[in-house]
Amino acid sequence: MTSITEILQMGPVMPVIVIDDSAQAVPLAQALLQGGIRTIEITLRTPAALDAMQAVATACPEILIGAGTVTNVRLAKQARDAGAGFLVSPGTTDAVIKGAVDAGLPLLPGAASVSEIMVLMEAGFNAVKFFPAATAGGPSFIKSLASPLPGVSVCPTGGISLATAPDWLALPNVSCVGGSWIAPQAMIAAGDFDRIAANASAAASLSS
Ligand code: 3PG
Repeated sequence: MTSITEILQMGPVMPVIVIDDSAQAVPLAQALLQGGIRTIEITLRTPAALDAMQAVATACPEILIGAGTVTNVRLAKQARDAGAGFLVSPGTTDAVIKGAVDAGLPLLPGAASVSEIMVLMEAGFNAVKFFPAATAGGPSFIKSLASPLPGVSVCPTGGISLATAPDWLALPNVSCVGGSWIAPQAMIAAGDFDRIAANASAAASLSS
């Protein structure tokens, strides 16, 4: 099983996917692969999400799928059964942690404050999703964590773009950012996979 630390080192950007039609999942994954993306977060926010995961897991085993927006035990198990290799949560509760343990999958747990990150450290986590990153503190907040909380990797997500990603990736405690800008929901729905491949290529080329 790939650890969350290893997953965050697979590339500088993890696309966050909201997909409405599972038939779009494989062409989407192929466009992302073409651009050099190796790991994605498919959010469990739409009825199509689990079928989309299953389709990508079957057709594109080179992509490691994270199931995003995991908020309860049931979703964790369903995501594992659909082929997810890890779980991502926007915030973290005991139930989400238990869900990940029961599903046997690594969890990138969401946090938005120093205390929340410290609670996660006490629970054994050394990597967190900082969400919603731009509004919860921005790059200067994450920079401030590096000294008091050494050894914690942060994956900022929420409000990040191609233009602002370098500000986050320049930080010593950030090796990967998440974002929907690579494949926005409307772009997927429109089937604009050439543009998604170009966005993926630009994202994958960022330095971390
Ligand atoms: C998430 O779930 O992590 C966010 O919806 C992604 O945020 P963004 O759409 O601002 O990139």
